[in-house]
Amino acid sequence: SKILFDGQIIDRDNLVDIEDRGYQFGDGVYEVIGVYEGRPFMMDEHLHRLKRSAGEIQLNLPFSLEEFRRQLNQLVKANHLDEGIIYLQVTRGAASRWHEFPGRGVRPKVTAYTRAEERMTQVEDQGGHAVLTEDIRWLRCDIKTLNLLPNVLAKQKAVENGAVEAILHRGDTVTEASASNVFIVKNGELFTHPANNYILNGITRQKVLEICRKINIPVHEQTYTVDELLAADEVFVTATKSDIIPILEVDGNQIGSGKPGATTGQILKQFRSLIH
Ligand code: PDD
Repeated sequence: SKILFDGQIIDRDNLVDIEDRGYQFGDGVYEVIGVYEGRPFMMDEHLHRLKRSAGEIQLNLPFSLEEFRRQLNQLVKANHLDEGIIYLQVTRGAASRWHEFPGRGVRPKVTAYTRAEERMTQVEDQGGHAVLTEDIRWLRCDIKTLNLLPNVLAKQKAVENGAVEAILHRGDTVTEASASNVFIVKNGELFTHPANNYILNGITRQKVLEICRKINIPVHEQTYTVDELLAADEVFVTATKSDIIPILEVDGNQIGSGKPGATTGQILKQFRSLIH
């Protein structure tokens, strides 16, 4: 298949420089963009978040967002991608390994590829289980950086326990999940952690909040505790491509009726209508 490498669509090959700072330090940012029926979903929102993430680590993107959009659309076409994702990352480039930023002559490295992936409608409709684990990440989780080791360890714990996600908590406060945002429904109202430095402000999360405002589900961007999570009527997680997944059990505790909830279903239905 084809990849996007430094502005060019080329064959996938062994292209990583051993001293690329993404490879050595995780010094870079990324985005995962869903593709449905050949169309990237909310690409502009993802690109704006990429620009923000890059800015927060003082990395100048080497292309305008306009140019990124054009190149990524070209990549989707070159790979004849129908259903799947685009993975896009920008590292601070390759330079002799010193921790501080390299000199101005070193150009950030942009790479992107696509991966065909089936729609995840089955787990979205049926739901799954989650485990709880302490959020051991740094204090700038709002930046979508390549440093994902705590997320990797959390997700591994979920998978080893037959769960679809690991829900993270800092002390008593639920933050988000290993690769998704977490919502609870209590008495018909929705609660989710505010978009501050403790979570990634998910593009799917923002769309869910917009949908709720439109269909008059009260939303509170407000912290809630692990106990409140366990006592919720409904819990769901949101992320690119997996969209909205109802969580029926957390660490063996049944949530609500133990079946996907009505409010979650309503939101999922609205979300899907935007995709088609
Ligand atoms: N992850 N929180 C974290 C920690 C994430 O890694 C992600 C996405 C989200 C959801 O964001 P969005 O709705 O914009 O996809 C929340 C991507 C999909 C990944 O790393 O694969």
